[in-house]
Amino acid sequence: MTEVQLKDKRFELFIPEKIITKEIKRVAKEISRDMQEKNPLFICVLNGAFMFASDLIKRIDIPCEVGFIRLRSYQGEQSSGAVKEVQGFVENVENRHVVVIEDIIDTGHTMSYLINKLHVENPAILKIACLLFKPAALEIDINPDYCALEIPNDFIVGYGLDYNGSGRNLKDIYKIKS
Ligand code: IMP
Ligand code: MG
Repeated sequence: MTEVQLKDKRFELFIPEKIITKEIKRVAKEISRDMQEKNPLFICVLNGAFMFASDLIKRIDIPCEVGFIRLRSYQGEQSSGAVKEVQGFVENVENRHVVVIEDIIDTGHTMSYLINKLHVENPAILKIACLLFKPAALEIDINPDYCALEIPNDFIVGYGLDYNGSGRNLKDIYKIKS
């Protein structure tokens, strides 16, 4: 599919599955190398990161653990800035090597909220792994330690990311048509 219609908007193919997979394999190698013997705890940020987390974690070739947190900040095509915790995580992060898995860093508000929250619980190491990073949209000084793809400041969907709930099932990434 080169174009898709989701609700009232049209989207065009932007990043095919093949490229996504290639970059995820690279990130999985980097994390596996850096976290050897550390038994890292991955925290997947729902909903958007579910597909990325699944494809990434199955390529991690060292012992590890997985937890989930559910946050919400987006309405339509705009980041609202206000982050809401819909469901917290139960894992103990004290003295753990923690890797937060996020779908996209846009304004940075969501990641900054989560990093501040986790820091209070004294993890040994706290790293950020994101599928997509939009440096031009950043409003907070935050940098992913592991990043599959850097993209321009366009609204995108697919591979877990949604437009008002739709498009998460797409295996490729699409960007909004202007
Ligand atoms: P931030 O707080 O502005 O960095 O936004 C982070 C959250 O907004 C991400 O976890 C995504 O769920 C969502 N988001 C940001 N940019 C996009 C986009 O282009 N498409 C779909 N969702 C997005
Ligand atoms: Mg997200």
